Amino acid sequence: MRLPRSVRAADVAGTTVLVRADLNVPLERGRVADDTRIRAALPTLQLLLERNAARIRVCSHLGRPKGEDPAFRMEPVREHLRSLLPDERIEVRENTRFHPGETANDPDFARELAEGCDLYVNDAFGSAHRAHASTVGVAGLLPAYAGLLLLDELEHLGRLLDEVERPFLLVTGGAKVEDKLGVLQNLGGRADGVLVGGKMAEELRTENPLPFDVVLPTDVLAASEFTEDADAQVAPFDELPDGWLGLDIGPESRAEFARRIAEARTVFWNGPMGVFEWERFAAGTKAVAEAVAAVDGYTVVGGGDSVRAVNELGLEERISWVSTGGGASLELLEGKELPGVAAIPAA
Ligand code: 3PG
Ligand code: MG
Repeated sequence: MRLPRSVRAADVAGTTVLVRADLNVPLERGRVADDTRIRAALPTLQLLLERNAARIRVCSHLGRPKGEDPAFRMEPVREHLRSLLPDERIEVRENTRFHPGETANDPDFARELAEGCDLYVNDAFGSAHRAHASTVGVAGLLPAYAGLLLLDELEHLGRLLDEVERPFLLVTGGAKVEDKLGVLQNLGGRADGVLVGGKMAEELRTENPLPFDVVLPTDVLAASEFTEDADAQVAPFDELPDGWLGLDIGPESRAEFARRIAEARTVFWNGPMGVFEWERFAAGTKAVAEAVAAVDGYTVVGGGDSVRAVNELGLEERISWVSTGGGASLELLEGKELPGVAAIPAA
C-alpha cells in the first residue's frame, strides 16, 4: 500500500496548521454521547502543539445536515475537545457540511478553508473515503501531510491486505449489505472462512452471489414484530414462523460461530449479529465480541455498531485494532485507494 507522508516530517514551528479530523461523533440531548473519535484525534494535535505550531485550525463535518442546522453545530464537540486538550492555539471551525461546497469539493470552499493556513494535516481516517473540499480539495492548495491516526489506521487495517497468520476468519453482519459485498469479494476469497450473521445472512439465505462458501446461522431468535418486547422464540434459520423476523442468531449458531472464531489466528469483524441495542437480541453480538477478544492472534474490529458493542462490553483492550472508520475501513479493505489518502504526497 502507498503510504502518505507523515506529519512528523513537517516543519510546523510558527505556522498555522489546518487539521481535518473526523469529529463526527454521536450527540444525545446536545452533548457528546461517545468521544472515541475526539480522543483519537488528540495525538496529532498534541504533536503539533509540542512542535510549536502557532495556531491549529481544526475542521470536521458533523452528521449529515442539509445546510446550516442548529442541531449539528460544532459547539458541543468544541467544548468537549477543549476539556480534553485546553490550549488557546486550537480553534474548531463550524461544521464543514453547513457549506454546500464541502461535499461538492468546490474549489472556492477549499480556498476558504485554506485561507490563512500554511500547512494541511489530514487525520480524518473515518472520512478518507469522501472526496470533499476538506478532505481532498485543500490538499491541492497547501503542503499536505497525514496525521498520526490516519497512518495508524492504514498500518493496522493494511495488515489484513498482506500475508496474515492463518486461519484467517472474516465475520460480518449488520444491515448494509451492498456496502459490504466489496469487502467480502476482496477479503472473503483470501480468508479461510467467512461467517455471516444479522440481516446480511438473510440476504444470502436463498442465494449466495459470492464465488466462495459462507457459514450462515443454523438458528435464529425470531420475533413476532420489530419491537423490543415482541414475542420471541428460537427457530431454525430457514423455518421462521410466517411473518416473524430474525432479530439475532440463535444459541446453536452462537456456539458454532464462537467455536470457529476460537480456532482463528486473524479475524476481521464488522457488523452486529442482530439488534444488539435491544438487550433481548444482543446475545449473538456479545458472543462474537467475546470470542474475537479471546483470540490469540491479530484481531480488527471496524464499523460503528461492532465498535460500540466492543466498548460496551469493555473488551477494547483485548482487540488488536479498533478502527474509527466505518465506511472508510470497508473501502480500504475492498482494496480501493481512499481519495483523502491519495490527495497527500507519498512518504
Ligand atoms: C462516518 O461516520 O462514517 C464518517 O464520519 C463519514 O460520514 P458520512 O458517511 O456522513 O460521510
Ligand atoms: Mg458512515
